[in-house]
Amino acid sequence: MPHPTVATSRRLEDVRYDIRGPLSRRAHELEAAGKPILRLNIGNPGLFGFRVPQHLRDAIATALPKSEAYCHQQGLLEAREAVAAQHRRNGAEARPEHVFIGNGVSELIDLSLRALLDAGDEVLVPAPDYPLWTAATRLNGGVPLHYPCPPERAHLPDPAEIEAMVTPRTRALVIINPNNPTGAVYPRELLAALVDVARRHRLVLLCDEIYDSVLYDGAAFTPLAPLAGETPCISYGGLSKVHLACGYRVGWLSVTGHEHRVHDLVRALDLLASLRLCSNVTAQWAIRPALEGPNEIGALTRPGGRLHAARAAVVDAVERSEFLRMVAPDGALYAFPGVDPERLPGFDDAAFALDLLEHEQIILVPGSSFNIAARNHFRLTLLPEPAVLADALARIERELARIARNAARRVA
Ligand SMILES: Cc1ncc(COP(=O)(O)O)c(C=O)c1O
Repeated sequence: MPHPTVATSRRLEDVRYDIRGPLSRRAHELEAAGKPILRLNIGNPGLFGFRVPQHLRDAIATALPKSEAYCHQQGLLEAREAVAAQHRRNGAEARPEHVFIGNGVSELIDLSLRALLDAGDEVLVPAPDYPLWTAATRLNGGVPLHYPCPPERAHLPDPAEIEAMVTPRTRALVIINPNNPTGAVYPRELLAALVDVARRHRLVLLCDEIYDSVLYDGAAFTPLAPLAGETPCISYGGLSKVHLACGYRVGWLSVTGHEHRVHDLVRALDLLASLRLCSNVTAQWAIRPALEGPNEIGALTRPGGRLHAARAAVVDAVERSEFLRMVAPDGALYAFPGVDPERLPGFDDAAFALDLLEHEQIILVPGSSFNIAARNHFRLTLLPEPAVLADALARIERELARIARNAARRVA
């Protein structure tokens, strides 16, 4: 008699994280069969030869003997002071008692939504989004409402459109700036208008700023907390991207806003943080040196830097492409090209991603994995060497040409 499978939680039914989903499992199979795969699907700097700045490594090595006990549930005080000081330098009224350190921003996104949401509460999430925001909203009983950030608008949201989506159940407005996957960097006036929407409708602002210093061609980052002022706002940052230390698993959040309005939220976060005791202590010692030391990512994103050249390689290739169109990314570690629907009608991003993996041994992420209805986009990371990216884009073009030829044959 067959063994019945163990039932799993129904909460997971609508929860997806395709960046590490079935496509990625197929890539592992191909690798196991001896086919090397070019992994353009994950923004993981350490996989592409980037090294964590030496002063962060040294800080951890020196502090290792001090890392053997649990620390405060919110994180090491010196690390929280450094986070609060960074926000104060930007003009926000941050304080270490309202900072929480987590095992990556990932853990803190889940923790914050758990602290905020009751079943059926709504959260405004950008589309496309970093899909953990949608997944964690659903996991915590919430309903994501996706507000569009289409390429025709340079992937920027429209505050009036967002306001029209607000209902009595809407609790929070998620902003990802600089944006993953689109690379959009939001102008100050737009952020101020989003704060106004939140203020008028008593929404909590949840601002994911994990790419705050990953900027190209003079783009300027505007932190949200100083604009939000007394409006409740949680700002998220971490070591994974700007400090190239994904594996350290260090992220933080800072709660700002009128003391009376955020009091219970901070208490709820504290309770949830206590339930997991504390985050990894060892890596927290890197936070202060990261925030007070030199900005090493700047050297990579400026002209002459590797990320600058990588972005240029992708922008050039898309400009030359017969099939692709793109709003060039102003920040973050990705490009989000779209296939021109007039050149390839009926294009299906998921089928394309699978074909590209099988034919060209390249893995990227279909655009629909980022919670958009359109099926003509894909995301790739800018982390490989520029020459590797140029070659990858040539292979992508070859696959698109193959699809075009097959379509023409079907018509003939
Ligand atoms: C927008 C955004 N937020 C949060 C995260 C999670 O980062 P971590 O958990 O490594 O801090 C990522 C990772 O790619 C991201 O792109």
